[in-house]
Amino acid sequence: MGRLPLRVLLPMTVLVLVVAAAAAQDDEYTWPQWKVPLVRKRRTVPLSSPHFSARPQPQLSGMCGIECQRRLPAASLDDLEHFLSYETVYENGSRTYTSVAVEGLNEVTAWPRNVSSRSRQKREVYGTDTRFTISDKHFSTKYPFSTSVKISTGCSGVLVSPKHVLTAAHCIHDGKDYLDGAQKLRVGILKEKSRRGKGERRGGRGKGRRRKEDKEQEEVADKEENGEKGERRGRGKGRRNRSRRSVESEKPSFRWTRVKKTQVPKGWFKGVSGGLNADYDYAVLELKKAPKVKHMDLGVIPSLKKIPAGRIHFSGFDDDRPGNLVYRFCSVSEESNDLVYQYCDAKPGSSGSGVYIRLKEPGKKKWKRKIIGVFTGHQWVDVNGDGTQQDYNVAVRITPLKYAQICYWVNGDTSQCKVA
Ligand SMILES: *[C@@H]1O[C@H](CO)[C@@H](O)[C@H](O)[C@H]1NC(C)=O
Ligand SMILES: *[C@@H]1O[C@H](CO)[C@@H](O)[C@H](O)[C@H]1NC(C)=O
Ligand SMILES: *[C@@H]1O[C@H](CO)[C@@H](O)[C@H](O)[C@H]1NC(C)=O
Repeated sequence: MGRLPLRVLLPMTVLVLVVAAAAAQDDEYTWPQWKVPLVRKRRTVPLSSPHFSARPQPQLSGMCGIECQRRLPAASLDDLEHFLSYETVYENGSRTYTSVAVEGLNEVTAWPRNVSSRSRQKREVYGTDTRFTISDKHFSTKYPFSTSVKISTGCSGVLVSPKHVLTAAHCIHDGKDYLDGAQKLRVGILKEKSRRGKGERRGGRGKGRRRKEDKEQEEVADKEENGEKGERRGRGKGRRNRSRRSVESEKPSFRWTRVKKTQVPKGWFKGVSGGLNADYDYAVLELKKAPKVKHMDLGVIPSLKKIPAGRIHFSGFDDDRPGNLVYRFCSVSEESNDLVYQYCDAKPGSSGSGVYIRLKEPGKKKWKRKIIGVFTGHQWVDVNGDGTQQDYNVAVRITPLKYAQICYWVNGDTSQCKVA
């Protein structure tokens, strides 16, 4: 049964049993295989340099919410091609516009247009709703937490390739112009400081031991993700006396890397998508230098029922805990085709964080985490289409189409983006 600890297995088993009553096998909780559409470049034209005059926005409001979205007609292919066309801004301030063609949309394994609506709960918080500061310095610089990065405009992001960061569009652009801070955009990666000097430790010493520590840390991450607080510091056999390691008392610090180019979908821009701009609140940054940190793969979000406990995870750099990586998880309360609504605790600063889940790889027992959304922050959502507003924390979900676009941005080539 692999190496899953019992305390992970037990809750899982209960869940599987409950689900099994309604569904068939336990290939529940497996990453679905998606045939994704192709997003292909049509043409790129130069634009004048942006003004970089926008100020960061505290929160979005009046977005078209669940019922509002349900009433809208499905976007036409032309609309989608328009929304997914994008701007690229380079480090030197030059800007281009690229129009795209979308192919094979009909072949996508159908995304239910009418997402099942759970009966509305009044501001109920699902599951545990707390944030954890990842204060263990070794821990915050290890996978999966090490994939979280800070964006110099004050947001968070996630490494989705060796040198690409996924974040929220509003961290770069306010819908009308680029933020002033987007001109010299940088990304901070948490690195453990070492008094032994910057260089890698040479000569394999302690390599096996380090691998073992990595494994332990992953297991602690697993525990946290399964709802157990990992606060077992100082006892338990997993801890060894680390005092001989000279890095003991230092907090990890950011190592900053310049951004070479930024890509933002047109659908995010004011007046383009008719109130659906929140659906396009994502952007990809290409770093000048790969930070040599393991990234997290991109995936396509399955329907809520296929996510254990409907639970999502993300970590970012919340403003109220400066310099610390903050991790949280919670269950999704509602979803639309392009957004998930939840009450994960979050403060400004965490927007742009990569939302991930863990599912099994097909045919394997091993769990794999993938990014399936972008946390976009606290928003007032128009729920009934009659002006009633409700506050939620919102994340953009990575649909097959968005997967196709982001994958294309990251790879510069659609041939690697046919299956998610
Ligand atoms: C800016 O950089 C881009 C990409 O490297 C390049 O194509 C463009 O010509 C540059 N523009 C200027 C004005 O240097
Ligand atoms: C979606 O929901 C609407 C209203 O509830 C219904 O009229 C329509 O037939 C549904 N469409 C699909 C594809 O189920
Ligand atoms: C751990 O190291 C500290 C500092 O050197 C020492 O005082 C302590 O006794 C050690 N603890 C164990 C369990 O070895």
